[in-house]
Amino acid sequence: MPQSPPSAVAKSGAGLTPNPGLTPMMLNHAAWVTPDAAETTDFYTRIMGMEIASTVLDDSVPSTGEKIPYFHIFFRMADGSTLAFFEAPGVPAPAKSSHPAYDVFNHIALEAKDRAEVLRWYEWLTSQGVDVIGPTDHDGLILSIYFHDPAGVRLEITTPLDKQWNRYTEKGYAHLKLWEDAKAKAKVEGRDVPVALLELIKDVRKRHD
Ligand SMILES: [Fe+2]
Repeated sequence: MPQSPPSAVAKSGAGLTPNPGLTPMMLNHAAWVTPDAAETTDFYTRIMGMEIASTVLDDSVPSTGEKIPYFHIFFRMADGSTLAFFEAPGVPAPAKSSHPAYDVFNHIALEAKDRAEVLRWYEWLTSQGVDVIGPTDHDGLILSIYFHDPAGVRLEITTPLDKQWNRYTEKGYAHLKLWEDAKAKAKVEGRDVPVALLELIKDVRKRHD
């Protein structure tokens, strides 16, 4: 059962009641707005090798009742999980990000079988005129390449190099505590928080190396 560190529990205002054994099973779908459903379909079916899983046409959003005519389309991956898009003509283009960090950090990663398959993806995508960054080895944890779909969604194809890559729970809580403590200390001392965090990052990396 997932644990919550005391600070996260306090921040969420959820009190100290433990999670009752509810953990999501898998990715059902992640969804974005696209300006062109046909172009998006070509990309996810032909380039990404996915199938159309489901579609919806509606004049209002079922969850909120908002009147927006849209076309909703889902594309299926090998495990049944999907990526989904909405085309809503007449909706203006999104506002630009306030900082490049948002354009780099916001992304979704799709898993490839192994290192060789990541390299095959690299060859295939570049042969189709897709700009690809990588492959990048993340400290022996995972190997990834990065690119964008036609709607500007940042995608990653990745494979675990370390079979335990998503099992470092204790280390994760330790890192979270270091991070929160360093931020709190910098604030109390009236120091610049990003500068203080840079020192923490250097220190943690030194210990890791
Ligand atoms: Fe990632």
